[in-house]
Amino acid sequence: MRSQPISRREQLLSHLEAAEGAWLSGERLAAELGVSRAAVWKLIRGLETDGIAIEARPSLGYRLDPATDPLCAAAIARRLTTREPAVTVEHHPLLDSTNRLAARLARAGAPEGHLVTASAQSSGRGRCGRSFISPPDTGVYFSLILRPRLAYEDALLITTTAAVAVSEAIRRLLPGLNPEIKWVNDILLDGRKVCGILTEASLDMESGSIAALILGIGINVYPPAEGFPAELASIAGALVPAVRPGLRASLIAAVVDAFFAYYPALADEEGRLAIVAAYRARCPIAGRAITVVAGDGTDRPATALGIDDRGRLNVRYDDGGEDCLGSGEIRVRPR
Ligand code: BTN
Repeated sequence: MRSQPISRREQLLSHLEAAEGAWLSGERLAAELGVSRAAVWKLIRGLETDGIAIEARPSLGYRLDPATDPLCAAAIARRLTTREPAVTVEHHPLLDSTNRLAARLARAGAPEGHLVTASAQSSGRGRCGRSFISPPDTGVYFSLILRPRLAYEDALLITTTAAVAVSEAIRRLLPGLNPEIKWVNDILLDGRKVCGILTEASLDMESGSIAALILGIGINVYPPAEGFPAELASIAGALVPAVRPGLRASLIAAVVDAFFAYYPALADEEGRLAIVAAYRARCPIAGRAITVVAGDGTDRPATALGIDDRGRLNVRYDDGGEDCLGSGEIRVRPR
């Protein structure tokens, strides 16, 4: 289900993107889109207004600026290999929050597998009521609608599964990078946060039950040109320093494919144990000195004992007593 039909502008962008840096003549684009060459030129101007950098040469035609990595629905869709569920992609240059739109679409009946992506968010939502800084064209911000037929406790592992999927997708696309999961669901690269995950329930107002889950993922792919805001400068990082055409679409597709490869395993105990084992292998927390940050903001020093079979963190507090944390926030203390 799409909230809008594919526009001519989007179709043009998808042709330019699929050409992978080759020039496409105005004549050819006009024929592909079934419009005049003058209309192609107008559409090009429209894309430029949306912030897409396009090179134009009278003898050659048009191509995407090879120093940019624009996103469009078709670029993501043609890289996806998931067949079950059918993944449908809807991309927006700017949204307040992909989670918010996905929740609205889920309430209107959008099926499992509908993916909402944005090039930028004006009010990206983070965990614990925080915001998620989502500047244009530097990251990927996307939300997947899920309708899991799982017990509530097992559905909690969806975020765990997503953390594994993100770290696997990064390793597959960018060999040499070694992302780690920071409990509960941040992805760190060289100690800096490069990804946050926020899973929200969309409620059925009639019955009060969960109608859908919205799995929202934000990844800092490139550093923002003006740097991260001061409050994030020492904790946030990006995957790569410079733009690589096609990387953002490839990353979204790789995360979604990796997630759906694990998803059916959530239905049985053996599968769930395998997912948690994969999580544990990427979350080297056991034995580390940590600070548990309570909901009221108070800090409690502790030692992390390890991740249990349900993805919870077992801790021993320095002032005595042990706990098993299902969610929340910790800081890992320097060695
Ligand atoms: C966190 O680390 O606090 C979670 C951040 C989650 C951010 C993503 S970006 C895509 C999706 N839409 C949102 O508004 N938030 C999530």
